[in-house]
Amino acid sequence: MNKDITTDILNEWLDNVRPYAYDGQVANYIPALARQNPEDLAVAIHYIDGETIEAGEVEATFTLQSISKVISLALALMDNGEEYVFDRVGMEPTGDPFHSIYRLEQRPSKPLNPMINAGALAVTNMIHGDTPDEKVGRLLTFIHEMTDDQSISYDREVAESEFESAFLNRSLLFYMKQHQIVTGSVEETLDAYTKQCAIELNVCQLAKIGALLANGGRDLNSGRRIIPKHLARICKTFMVTCGMYDASGSFAIKVGIPAKSGVSGSVLASLNGFGGIAVYGPSLDEKGNSVVGLKLLELLSNRYDLSIF
Ligand code: DON
Repeated sequence: MNKDITTDILNEWLDNVRPYAYDGQVANYIPALARQNPEDLAVAIHYIDGETIEAGEVEATFTLQSISKVISLALALMDNGEEYVFDRVGMEPTGDPFHSIYRLEQRPSKPLNPMINAGALAVTNMIHGDTPDEKVGRLLTFIHEMTDDQSISYDREVAESEFESAFLNRSLLFYMKQHQIVTGSVEETLDAYTKQCAIELNVCQLAKIGALLANGGRDLNSGRRIIPKHLARICKTFMVTCGMYDASGSFAIKVGIPAKSGVSGSVLASLNGFGGIAVYGPSLDEKGNSVVGLKLLELLSNRYDLSIF
């Protein structure tokens, strides 16, 4: 395991990448996200031996947004099994923007993967629970187990703000309801999904989730299995093929670490035998990925030869 990275190096690199924040923009299609500070920048590394290093505004919290898709997928797979989940959601990358609707109409009439919005909405629909709050409560308990931190919850303002403005996600759900990919109430599934996306963490908590995935789904301290190993592998594989949406190919070439981004500007990366890396920088490129997050991960990967390829 490469442990030459020091806090001084991280701080130096944060200073180097900071100017790139001006090349992007904070997400504003979810009104409450527009209040994020574009200059916030933080990184944390949680090694699989438990050691951590961090730099930047590590106290800053952000909402998981699309990073939650990895966690909801793990829970839905644990709840329903692979066959049930992949009968309804595919395994192929799309090359389309994350909220794209048009491929839903092509055969087979199901979302191509669980990392795009359509697939993630279908996955949330599958999580066991009679009400949206029960589903979200189970997701939070799952995250508490992964981070060993019971304080994690969701940001109500961000959840409500997205719920009020999520016309495209409603359309995706109605389309999938027509084709029996989702069941039950569209509004209730959207309610659970927007709360799931609004789960609030900091980079240290997120890096720990990355380390748990890198450790095959076992808690780093107790060795307790939180996610079955084969399901942790499925999640990391989707992070490689679809985690950065239609930038997944170039990210695989430039960085080569399984990673998932969210429109809050956060990125979760997980590297077997190494640990978890979390980055937060809310300024986004045109594909919805953190500009500085990508730069920082590229620097780390190149300097320490972290690519899995
Ligand atoms: O559904 C949405 O549009 C957001 N809650 C999440 C999208 C997202 O994070 C895309 N990531 N880069």
